[in-house]
Amino acid sequence: MPAYNYETHEYDVVVVGAGGSGLRATLGMAEQGLRTACVTKVFPTRSHTVAAQGGIAASLGNMGPDSWQWHMYDTVKGSDWLGDTDAMEYLAREAPKAVYELEHYGVPFSRTEDGRIYQRPFGGHTTEFGEGPPVQRTCAAADRTGHAILHTLYGQSLKQKAEFYIEYFAIDLIMAEDGTCQGVVCWKLDDGTIHVFNAKMTVLATGGYGRAYFSATSAHTCTGDGGGMVARAGLPLQDMEFVQFHPTGIYGAGCLITEGARGEGGYLTNSEGERFMERYAPTYKDLASRDVVSRCMTLEIREGRGVGPEGDHIHLNLNHLPPETLAERLPGISESARIFAGADVTKEPIPVIPTVHYNMGGIPTNYWGEVLNPTKKDPDRLSPGLMAVGEAGCASVHGANRLGSNSLIDLVVFGRAAAIRAGKVVDPEAANPTLNKASIAAAIDRFDGLRHAKGSVPTADLRLEMQKTMQSDAAVFRTDKTLAEGVEKMAVVAAKMDDLSVTDRSLIWNSDLMETLELANLMPNALATIVGAAARKESRGAHAHEDYPDRDDKVWRKHSLAVVDGVKVKLDYRPVHLEPLSKHEDGGIDLKKIAPKARVY
Ligand code: FUM
Repeated sequence: MPAYNYETHEYDVVVVGAGGSGLRATLGMAEQGLRTACVTKVFPTRSHTVAAQGGIAASLGNMGPDSWQWHMYDTVKGSDWLGDTDAMEYLAREAPKAVYELEHYGVPFSRTEDGRIYQRPFGGHTTEFGEGPPVQRTCAAADRTGHAILHTLYGQSLKQKAEFYIEYFAIDLIMAEDGTCQGVVCWKLDDGTIHVFNAKMTVLATGGYGRAYFSATSAHTCTGDGGGMVARAGLPLQDMEFVQFHPTGIYGAGCLITEGARGEGGYLTNSEGERFMERYAPTYKDLASRDVVSRCMTLEIREGRGVGPEGDHIHLNLNHLPPETLAERLPGISESARIFAGADVTKEPIPVIPTVHYNMGGIPTNYWGEVLNPTKKDPDRLSPGLMAVGEAGCASVHGANRLGSNSLIDLVVFGRAAAIRAGKVVDPEAANPTLNKASIAAAIDRFDGLRHAKGSVPTADLRLEMQKTMQSDAAVFRTDKTLAEGVEKMAVVAAKMDDLSVTDRSLIWNSDLMETLELANLMPNALATIVGAAARKESRGAHAHEDYPDRDDKVWRKHSLAVVDGVKVKLDYRPVHLEPLSKHEDGGIDLKKIAPKARVY
């Protein structure tokens, strides 16, 4: 091992990441008296959750009738029948409780006239098991809901004496010989020191890997760090082929314009001024599920009805809405539209285009957030000492497609679930593990190797090559040809990781090295995505395969698992959980209601 000293910190739990799920887990752990550290590469309130706009789904029924069973049905249908039934039930049932907890922690939700939490419509959220009108289920703090939640959870975590290690970059997991996770090795960005976190439970809350693509609503920090560490530990990633395109990223800039804009009455038009969603989704129109809307927009553009000089985008109209509604409910996107598209939303449409937004796939877990290392005999085998929550994890509650506003609720429900579980399985009285020195040495070796990389390819160039390949070959629509080409190109791109050039050798604020470590995390995520997509010969949710336009439940209603080793990806599959948590006769959902059928809106 090269000569690096390191400082060791002992905790019951170390949470990596301080977005919505990381903070909710941290808070829940600390509330129970577990000694909890939260390690984060950015200041907590700068985590990507801060950018979440439209809201958080829960069947509070403040604006009209709603029920957790309807929410569960919508989530099952939204997932295109790939989500795990137990996890989807847990999400829908626990959502109201989790939102009221947020309210009591101090989240400044928007209010109805009579003082209850304001809720708006969002795509794919309906009443009467998809037979009734759209429901107002998405609880909002104007269009800055993530911001409100993140600040509240950070304050509450500090109050509970959780300890924060801010601007620490997680290099790798510490894995014992028997496969138990023992913590994480980190690099402190502002002074260059190395830190070892020895923990009885490690929770990965590192977010998604949107930055594997060229144009994404995700922050530049969304580099799949948890997935990268898990892949290097030899553990699988699940359902990575399902990448969500949000219908309304600002054309050219990629910034998000919330689905709440359509929830408040906005609508999309093509170059003929036609509200084309009425043709594709006669019932829910612009409030169909977002994978559906993204595909319809792409078809309009392909068929020559895109707007703009190059006919390559679509218009989102809000100028018919009262200016007071725009100011009160959508102030953030009104500002984004002005800054990034030069559009005054009170007068003109916003140019938008489907933009990469969310990764349904991630680190496989059960609904308590415990990481799985499946075998054929035991598809739910646990990987001891390790949890994953939020976009980094795959519970799998979103299956092949996530509904808008089901992400924020996923963060808090499963962050909270992980804390509840840790309260049961982590013994604060027990001794911390004896660390596997070889695993620490391997992490530091890898770090040092990248720090001194003397190849010929700058990190930024290779990242761009990866992003362009993913953008063109693992896109909204996919074919056997584009996917096969993409797999081939990505193997060449990934092999260049051995020829990287890092020019800054320092240890303090070395952004060249940090971006290189991030690229090393993005790469296995990207490889698993494109290889998983090439293998899946059907269309389901966000995976729209033009050579196999139908969903094939007989063969493909299963989760894919990808073990990534360098440029090699080994695929396997595990069954979807079909059993709910509770029986119909005990108040659970009627399974007939959620049986697979054609997914139309
Ligand atoms: O459109 C939005 O506000 C995004 C919400 C989400 O992805 O859940």
